[in-house]
This record gives sequence, structure tokens and C-alpha cells, in this order.
Amino acid sequence: MDRIEAELVVLGAGPGGYAAAFYAADRGKKVVLIEQDSRLGGVCLNRGCIPSKALLHATHLISEARVSADRGITFGEPTVDPARLQSWKEGVIRKLAQGVRTLARARGVEIMIGRGRFEGPRRMRVDGEDGQRTVEFRNAVIAVGSEPVVPRAWDLDRSRIMTSTEALDIGSIPDRLLVIGGGYIGMEMGTVYSALGSEVTLVEALDSILTGADADLVRPVMRRAKRRFADVRLGAEVRGLSIRDTHVEAITGSDGQETAEYFDRVLVAVGRRPLSDDLGLENTDVECDPNGFIAVDDAQRTSDAGIFAIGDVAGGVMLAHKAAREARVAIEALLGEGGVSDAVIPAVVFTDPEIAWCGLTETEAGERGVAVETAVFPWGASGRAIAVDRPDGLTKLVVEPGTERVLGMGITGQNAGELISEGVVLIEMGATVRDLADSIHPHPTLSETLSECAEMFYGHATHAAPRRKTART
Ligand code: NAI
Repeated sequence: MDRIEAELVVLGAGPGGYAAAFYAADRGKKVVLIEQDSRLGGVCLNRGCIPSKALLHATHLISEARVSADRGITFGEPTVDPARLQSWKEGVIRKLAQGVRTLARARGVEIMIGRGRFEGPRRMRVDGEDGQRTVEFRNAVIAVGSEPVVPRAWDLDRSRIMTSTEALDIGSIPDRLLVIGGGYIGMEMGTVYSALGSEVTLVEALDSILTGADADLVRPVMRRAKRRFADVRLGAEVRGLSIRDTHVEAITGSDGQETAEYFDRVLVAVGRRPLSDDLGLENTDVECDPNGFIAVDDAQRTSDAGIFAIGDVAGGVMLAHKAAREARVAIEALLGEGGVSDAVIPAVVFTDPEIAWCGLTETEAGERGVAVETAVFPWGASGRAIAVDRPDGLTKLVVEPGTERVLGMGITGQNAGELISEGVVLIEMGATVRDLADSIHPHPTLSETLSECAEMFYGHATHAAPRRKTART
């Protein structure tokens, strides 16, 4: 059996794992990166962020073409070739995955394709296609990610009762699609399939979709989803799923009522769980919490001092950029440089319109009893938003009273995901609303909604009626 030595082993080559491996190699470490999938990049690149954004981009055109008739430009009904769409999307993934491999090679990171399992606190066995190898290491970073949760009773036939993994493979377009869960995945994939022509019914157990965001930010997304989807049911649940010939029967219920309905396919998007099982953690001192997340300190160190964990498997929000940040923190900690994971993590849901937020939300402030002031600028007052026919948005600031420090920002509207980064920088730098109001934003852009929102805070935004900020405790 092959036996090799490495200063650092990174388990999992997603955006957390490869970021950790690359940074450690850049800082002079001998690194082995272990990945069970022959294509690097993890869920984000292969079965998550990238393919979903490619599909959202492709299908956005369909929605745009439809409304374009109102502007005097009419296109015919689009024809969709699912096989071609699928192969274009695969091309995007292939290119990026190859890019990750090239970047690894350029840094001298050794890639091992196979399934890694701890055999001891400093030894890992890797089962690959070409046999078994053992890696002796000084440090390890666990970055194995998460997988979709599918209640056992619903795990009947993944071609018809899908997770995001299957839903991203556009083999054919179902006439009737049931989406269970109004979170990130349910809303994004519901948007893709409705644009492709599916009749989408979305069922969410809670009384709102996208519950992490403030209610006022969610409203424009909900309004459009109600127009686009066949039905959006809140406070509703799916009590049973069964396969009937070519259909899936769903027993749905709310308010004591139960209905049997038929769908061609179902997307289960009710959350993700950490992939901490079967890693051989019992052969180390690494500990997990009751939900299977690996317990870490604020430097991403597990209870086994030489082993770090980052990304989805280490708990917190399950976002690629959070994993990449934690990668840097972990490598700096193992180099003895003492970084901690306390950065502002923006969230973006790529619905139509997009919704993005960072820092403190108004809802969190209320829950934690933190006194804040807020200001909201409606996009109906933005020249650019009206010119691009998308006044359905708002920009919001959450502000510390007295100091006027920006604590949080929320944006709903076209390109909100790009605009939110300015909020991240403001919060990280401890900037005030005055700093934002005094920074000239180019006209005509959607970014002006940020500086106008700051002006709104002082009650005199040029393009909106004067309105005072609101105080919340
Ligand atoms: P989620 O946690 O965002 O949403 C799940 C939703 O399902 C919740 O609203 C929950 O109330 C609802 N739900 C749970 N059980 C239900 C039931 N039995 N019936 C009806 N509704 C039910 O989880 P999701 O959408 O699966 O995404 C998982 C994670 O993946 C997200 O938390 C996010 O971190 C990540 N992600 C991020 C994206 C982005 O950054 N744009 C895109 C896609 C996923």
C-alpha cells in the first residue's frame, strides 16, 4: 500500500477545501487535497451555485423576452432544447473544474481522487479507483460539506422526487412541478422551472418564504413568485408522497384540510445536513454536535488540536464564500497567526428580483433587543431602476442610533447580489451613514439607491419624498 507524508491534508475540494489547500501551499506547506469526485469544485461548482446560476442566467432571457412586448419588441415563443441547455451548463462546469485543477497544479498541491477516512488522529486512508493509499499528516482541514435532506418516506425515486442535484440536470421539463420548501433552493429552482414552462406549485411550512431576510425585502420576491408560479402556499405542508404510474401523488394540507394532488415531479428543498458520518472521526478527538456539525472554535479548530473544520460541515450558514473565508482563518491559525471567523457574511438569493443582505437584519435586531434605526429607499424612485423596467426593489439600511454606524444592509432588486458588497465593506470598515451619503455614486446606476438610502436616513433624498427614518427597539 502506498504511504505518503504531507504537512497538511485537506479533505474535500469544494470552495472551502480548495481555498484552504491553495492558501496553505502559497504559504509554503506541502499539501495533499483529497476528493472523492473526479471533478474538483464540490457541490458549489458541480451541483449547486454555478449550475443554478448558469440556468438562472439562461432562463432569465425567456422572462425578459416575454415582457419585452410591452416595450414594443416582440419575440416568438421560445423553444427549449433541454439537451442543449444541459450540455452548455455542463461545459461551464467542466471549464471551471478544470480551472481548479490547473490552479492546484500550479501550486504543487497533490490531488488524490478517492474517499478519505481517518484511521488515526494523524493518518488518513484514501480509497481510490487505483487502490488504497495512506497519508500521514501533521494537520488536516475537513471540508466535506453537506447534502440535501430528504425525509426517508419521500426518498422513493430520485428521478421523480428530486433534490437540487437531480433538478439541476435538465433532462426534460415537467408540466407540473411541486417544490417543497420556500428557502434558497426552492425559490431559485422554482424560478428556473417556471421560466422553462413548468407549472410550479410551491409549498412552505412557515408563514413566509426566505425567512432569513426581513419581511419588507421579501415582499417584492413573493409578489413576483405569485405571478409566475401556479401557486405559492404558506403555512402549508406535504403530508405524504407516493409514486403512481407516471405521476407523484402528494397529500398536501393546511388548516386541517388535506388534498391529494398529482405532479410530474417534486423538488424537495427542505434544507441540507452535514456530511460528517463515516469519516472515521471516532479515530480522532474531533467532536460533533447533536446535529452532526463538527464543533469548532473561532479559529475553526476542532477538539483535536491538529484538525480544523470549515464550511457547511462546521455549521453556521451554508454558503460557499463563508467556507472560503473560514479556509483562510484555519490556515492562518495553523501557521500560528491567530485569525478568527468574525467577518460579515453576505447572503444572496438569486431569485427574480434578487434579494441580498449583510450584517444585522431588522428582524434579528428585534429578536436580540438591539436598538436600531432603519431607512428604506424604494426603487420606484430610482431613474435607473425605472429605465431598466425593474422598479420592484428597495434598499435598506440598519443603523446604530447615536453613532450612525451602518450595522446592516438589505437590497431587493435587479443585481442586488452585486450591490450588496458595498454594504459588506461599509460594515467591515465601521463606516457611518454620513460616509455613505457623502460618497458620490455614479448616475444613472442602481448603486445610487445606496447613497439615496443614506440621504433618506437624514430625511432628504433627492428623488424621494422627504421621510424620516424609523427607530426600532
Ligand atoms: P433552506 O433552509 O434555505 O430552506 C428550506 C425551507 O424549507 C425552509 O423555509 C423551511 O421552512 C422549509 N421546509 C422545511 N420542511 C418543510 C416541509 N416539510 N414542508 C414545507 N416546507 C418545509 O434550505 P434549502 O433551500 O434546501 O437550501 C439549503 C442551503 O443551501 C441554504 O440554507 C443555503 O445556505 C444553501 N444555498 C445557497 C444558495 C445561495 O447562496 N444563493 C443557493 C442554494 C442553496
